[in-house]
Amino acid sequence: MRIDVLTLFPALINAFAETSIVGRACAAELVSIVPTDIRDFTHDNHRSVDDKPFGGGPGMVMACGPVFEAFEHLVGPDGHKNDETELIMLTPQGETFDQSKATELAKYRRLILLCGHYEGFDERIREGLSPREISVGDYVLTGGEVAAMVLMDAVIRMLPGVLGNEMSAGDESFSSGLLEYPQYTRPRDFRGLKVPDVLLSGDHAKIEAWRRAQSMERTKKRRPDLLEG
Ligand code: ADE
Repeated sequence: MRIDVLTLFPALINAFAETSIVGRACAAELVSIVPTDIRDFTHDNHRSVDDKPFGGGPGMVMACGPVFEAFEHLVGPDGHKNDETELIMLTPQGETFDQSKATELAKYRRLILLCGHYEGFDERIREGLSPREISVGDYVLTGGEVAAMVLMDAVIRMLPGVLGNEMSAGDESFSSGLLEYPQYTRPRDFRGLKVPDVLLSGDHAKIEAWRRAQSMERTKKRRPDLLEG
């Protein structure tokens, strides 16, 4: 998979692409993350990417020109109209991101992520590029980069080979529709806090039943909304 990120802060994206599990996935060429600096597509001395809103009001609006040019530089004049590429605008106005969307996006060969700043995008960016719009939650970030990193992280860990054998993307919160069961490691007794006996029993059927019950109980208590479906 190739992920292009249209951004004003390529250094943030590069740091993300070099670090931890995502860094290893990039080094192993399971994914490539390619930031493109929108400011490189400006033509004025100040390299401005934003302007005052028509009609007045606070803040600045991200202008069309540099965004369209950066996008066209990536995909050519014919655009991205094919089934293997998805253009995504990160915005609090988008559909809310979740595990099933991460799994779905992991099937594309190429994602192009458009990160905004300031008060928002000139509406003609939506009209002209028809991006899919995704939000990472009902709160407002200072820009789309952190949201893009959330999306990339959740998508990349679903790609074959990224987590390796010792970890599984299937056996955890949300993939089953339930929250994850409690986990323990050594020591068996930490300051009087003990590991549940069942986990030390060696009885795998019993352990599985216990974990399933714990998952269900935790989900009922913390996230009953997940059980509604
Ligand atoms: N940009 C600013 N806030 C955002 C959010 N919640 N999700 C996605 N992009 C954003």
